[in-house]
Amino acid sequence: MRLAALKDAPYAFGSTWEHEKNRAEEEWRASVVSRTRFVAEADGQVAGMASVGEAGDAHTGSLTSFWVHPRARGKGVGDSLMLASVESAKEAGYDELLLWVTENNVHAERLYERHGFQRTGATQQVRPGDDRLEFEMSLRL
Ligand SMILES: CC(C)(COP(=O)(O)OP(=O)(O)OC[C@H]1O[C@@H](n2cnc3c(N)ncnc32)[C@H](O)[C@@H]1OP(=O)(O)O)[C@@H](O)C(=O)NCCC(=O)NCCS
Repeated sequence: MRLAALKDAPYAFGSTWEHEKNRAEEEWRASVVSRTRFVAEADGQVAGMASVGEAGDAHTGSLTSFWVHPRARGKGVGDSLMLASVESAKEAGYDELLLWVTENNVHAERLYERHGFQRTGATQQVRPGDDRLEFEMSLRL
């Protein structure tokens, strides 16, 4: 699913399909347990995913890997993933949930705003060698 997301939306993630396609089994297993991961399903098929984990200190969570399968877009799957992610971040005891969104990813940013996220003013390069910017957004929990 991760590889499908990287291939489908290379503009949306800090990593790339090329970088991850040859990951060893142990690396995949480690990434599954290092964060809380949500998978959305519809009619027995994968519809999307999201992950929540610590952002740097015990009070701040990060929301990453947010992706809805193209066949499932525009149907509220992103909202469901967001509700589960926020609930999980609250249960983990975080006061704040942070995420990064690439410039011009209007659908994603609108979804985040709808759930109360606001830009913090922080920006960074999407990844080395890629000049596009991504914006940090924050939700107080
Ligand atoms: C951004 C994303 C998560 C939104 O998920 P979603 O479940 O479709 O969210 P919504 O139902 O709120 O729809 C988002 C928008 O897409 C529009 N949309 C409707 N049908 C669509 C379709 N078939 N394909 C694409 N977008 C569609 C919706 O009308 C909505 O428009 P709005 O922004 O004007 O409100 C999803 O488009 C996605 O995975 N994109 C690629 C990966 C990505 O950008 N992830 C975010 C990383 S920060």
